[in-house]
Amino acid sequence: MVDAVTATDPRDEPPNEPVNDPRTDPRGEPAPPPSLDVSGLAYAYPDGHQALFGVDLTVARGERVALLGPNGAGKTTLVLHLNGILTGGAGSVTVAGLRVDPSDRAALAEVRRRVGIVFQDPDDQLFMPTVREDVAFGPANTGLRGAELAARVHEALALVGMEEYADRPPHHLSFGQRRRVAVATVLAMRPEILVLDEPSSNLDPASRRELAGILRSLDVTVLMVTHDLPYALELCPRSVVLGEGVIAADGPTRDLLCDEALMRAHRLELPFGFDPRSVPPPHA
Ligand SMILES: Nc1ncnc2c1ncn2[C@@H]1O[C@H](COP(=O)(O)OP(=O)(O)OP(=O)(O)O)[C@@H](O)[C@H]1O
Ligand SMILES: [Mg+2]
Repeated sequence: MVDAVTATDPRDEPPNEPVNDPRTDPRGEPAPPPSLDVSGLAYAYPDGHQALFGVDLTVARGERVALLGPNGAGKTTLVLHLNGILTGGAGSVTVAGLRVDPSDRAALAEVRRRVGIVFQDPDDQLFMPTVREDVAFGPANTGLRGAELAARVHEALALVGMEEYADRPPHHLSFGQRRRVAVATVLAMRPEILVLDEPSSNLDPASRRELAGILRSLDVTVLMVTHDLPYALELCPRSVVLGEGVIAADGPTRDLLCDEALMRAHRLELPFGFDPRSVPPPHA
């Protein structure tokens, strides 16, 4: 076991400068920075329980990556660091070149626009009288008004197939519809990376399939926390296994799911009779 990592003083950190990826594309243009770069992230909760022990994870722009791991592995703790809800541990998180720095409020606001987190329970995310107001809430906070705001709301609802529900109260919708609206509230911010915590949980098979279609159609980087391994295989060419606060494996989803020793070691179980080799690999 690694010793508990104590909080670092943010003043010890380098200044919050955009970090350019030194790699270049074939035409010699500087490549865009990765959507997400987590380096040496370690975190202990205030009660002293250490949940992360030095996580390194880079997600390139446009990738869809599944974050797998048993209960208590640290997946949600990691997600809560991506937009600065949790801070104060060691290491760094950088979103499209912008460092998550709790002492820089302007940078933090921009990070929160760039990282759209869809929580497991849509009711944590929907609190306005109508769907339209819920989806407008974030963009309105960034200063969008009038026709521009209306167009943004329409765009986000169209992406999840919920335009017809704009004037309905969210609490009158089904769970699956509320999850779609929760995705729309995040898409309305035009995020750099969409982070979903258990997106398929509590969905019936048709809603689960429809949400997969929506996620596949989006032109956005996706990090998806899931215990639904067939869903990870269907949607994410790459998976990362988090085990006891460290990255235990990182590779093509199918390879990981076919690695019986890895699966056993991290309490990952495929549904009875499911053969990952029988599913064609998803397109990136
Ligand atoms: N507020 C907290 N205070 C202290 N310890 C916590 C707190 N929240 C989570 N933990 C602990 O941190 C560890 C990681 O928890 P986390 O919620 O990140 O796991 P997870 O991988 O998301 O699990 P699950 O699959 O059950 O959602 C667990 O051991 C958990 O008990
Ligand atoms: Mg969790």
